[in-house]
Order: sequence, then C-alpha cells, then structure tokens
Amino acid sequence: MNPFRALILNLEGDEVISRIGEVSEAELIAAAPEGAEVTVRVTCSTLNYKDGLAMAGLGKVVRRYPHIPGVDLAGEVTQSDVPLWKPGDKVIAGGYGIGEKAWGGFAGFARLHPDWLVSLPPSLTMRQAMAIGTAGLTAMEAVTVLEEHGLTPGDGEVLVTGAAGGVGSTAVAVLAALGYEVTASTGRADTHDYLKALGAAHIIDRAELSTPPEKTLLPERWAAGVDAVGGTTLATILASLKHGAGVAATGLVGGSELTTTVIPFLLRGVNLLGIDSVQLAMERRRRAWARLATDLPLEKLESMIQDTRLEELPELGRRILNGLVRGRVVVEMDG
Ligand SMILES: NC(=O)c1ccc[n+]([C@@H]2O[C@H](COP(=O)([O-])OP(=O)(O)OC[C@H]3O[C@@H](n4cnc5c(N)ncnc54)[C@H](OP(=O)(O)O)[C@@H]3O)[C@@H](O)[C@H]2O)c1
Repeated sequence: MNPFRALILNLEGDEVISRIGEVSEAELIAAAPEGAEVTVRVTCSTLNYKDGLAMAGLGKVVRRYPHIPGVDLAGEVTQSDVPLWKPGDKVIAGGYGIGEKAWGGFAGFARLHPDWLVSLPPSLTMRQAMAIGTAGLTAMEAVTVLEEHGLTPGDGEVLVTGAAGGVGSTAVAVLAALGYEVTASTGRADTHDYLKALGAAHIIDRAELSTPPEKTLLPERWAAGVDAVGGTTLATILASLKHGAGVAATGLVGGSELTTTVIPFLLRGVNLLGIDSVQLAMERRRRAWARLATDLPLEKLESMIQDTRLEELPELGRRILNGLVRGRVVVEMDG
C-alpha cells in the first residue's frame, strides 16, 4: 500500500488542528485497535454532527492524537486476516467508535474490526450508502423502534425535529414513504420546499417547541416523534404526545438537559425511547440497512446530498455544529 491521504487531527496546546497529510500502512496498523484485522480502501465517507464535534475538539469524542475522524465509511476490502471478509468485498462501517476511538473514514484506507463491517446492500451505491450513513441509520432505527411500540400509518401526525438536518431529513423521507403524516419542525424558512419535497405534510417553526411548556400536559397532538434536538424541545414533545404514544430521542443539538415531570408518563402512558447507533446490535443494524435500501426513495435521498472534498470538511464541520448543513454531506476519497 502506498501512503494515502487523510484528514489528520492533532492537539496543539488546548486546540485541535486539522490538516490534510499522508499516512503510511505502518502508521495505520500501529494505530489500529486490537482485533482490527481487515483493511478497507475507502471510496466514500460522510459528515455527521459527531465529526463536527471531533474536528472542533468538543464533546470528548476524541481522546488520543494524532487522530483521523469520520464515523462512517464505505469501501472495498483490500486485505483480511479473517475468512469472514475477503479482498473485493464491498462494505460499509459506522459506529463502534470508528472515527472516535479508532481511526475513521476521512482517509484513503481504514483498518477495522471484522465485526464492525456490514455488506453494502446490493441496491445501493457507496455514495448512496454514505448519504445515509449513521444519521440515516439512526433515523431508520428510530422509526423501527416507534413501530415496535405500536405506531402505524393513520395514527396521526408524526413530528420530526431538526428536520432539515441529517437524521431529520432521512426520518421525514422514510416516514412519508411509509405513509405517515409527517410534521417537520425546522428553524430555517429556506428549507420548507425541500422538506415538502421529502414528504412533509406540515411544517412548524422550531421556536414553537423550544420554549418551556407552560403546563405539565399540553393538548394531545403527536402520534409519535423523532427528536434530534433534545432539551426543552423534547420536554415539549413529551407533554403533547397522544395517549400511549412515543418519542424516539436521537440527539442533543438543542441541549442535553431534560427538565420534565412524570405526569405525561403517568397520565398518558407516553414512552421516551432512546436510540444509540454506536452500540446498535449487528442484527438490528443489518435490518436497518435492509429497510433503508427499500423504504427510503432514492430520488429523495439524492435531493439530500451535498458532495464535497476532504479539504472542505473542517469548514463543513463548523457549519454542521451551527445547524447550517442541509441534509447529508458525502465525500469521495481518491484512495
Ligand atoms: N443517537 C445516536 O446514535 C445518534 C446518531 C446520529 C446523530 N445523533 C445526534 O443527532 C443529532 C442530529 O445529528 P445530525 O447528523 O442530523 O445533525 P445535523 O445534520 O446538524 O442536524 C441537526 C438539525 O437540528 C436543527 N438544529 C440545529 N441547532 C439547533 C438548535 N440549537 N435548536 C434546535 N434545533 C437545532 C437544525 O435543523 P433545522 O434547521 O431544520 O431546525 C439542524 O440541521 C446530533 O445531536 C447528533 O449527535 C445521534
């Protein structure tokens, strides 16, 4: 393997500095976690909110430097020490600490644990798989968990918050394609047409949800929620879920604190359902990818994509932390 390009993070004083540099095979193997026995040539990666945190040195996402971020990647196996994977296999990987504890996808190659890989669904290209990425997987898992709790189309409005972001856009598109009546909550007026094209039936301003609820119970409105915002927004959703309904908590862009009462749980039997894509069991992960390959219309996925280059990722990382990225960012690697 020749040295390959990567986005490398280093700690200088208290500051995390990123640069594009070259990495050798020996460096890749030395940095690989125990049991990482498969080398993947990265074809595409993507930008998640967590990558924005990692590049900014926030959220304790990265604890060892130098580091290569990128929680998702899609590519081809070039070398494997285990029979499970062989050179030429097309794979995707995300979660399990990739781009956090292990070097990630913002590089020409990655060295990964065999149990972290999923076969690329045959109906998806690598670019499409990365347009989905961890954000899309999380949205799909949220929808599945809500359905396991009894949600069916026809139950009423399903609220998606942070709707123009990565998790939100995918949730809107999947829910609409499955026949749900989707209400998209956004803070950006210029995304309304985009969200309607993804399938949102109604749009509300996120300010409506972000002031603390005046009462412990608000009028029953939502049949379910997929929430990427957390904080007061999540408290408001809990107070306005229909009896027996659930909200899937996926994110914290609006705050990690949750101030609520037990009243909606006791008087309305509502459910707060946590979603963790990092440690998601492999069986559920495979099922989510299989559902995404069928339940997410590809033309809608295409409308979410912003293609970019490795060099642009630090700036896009700053933008995603400020809620300014629409949909999903895909970066094609050049090996
Ligand atoms: N649980 C998991 O396993 C998992 C997996 C992936 C992501 N996440 C988390 O999910 C969240 C969303 O990730 P993402 O990749 O979708 O990020 P993203 O693309 O940046 O989307 C977040 C969206 O939230 C809205 N927003 C931004 N700042 C806000 C604020 N201060 N108050 C209210 N809304 C705000 C914006 O949408 P509008 O402009 O439309 O309002 C923004 O586009 C993050 O917290 C991320 O860490 C969790």
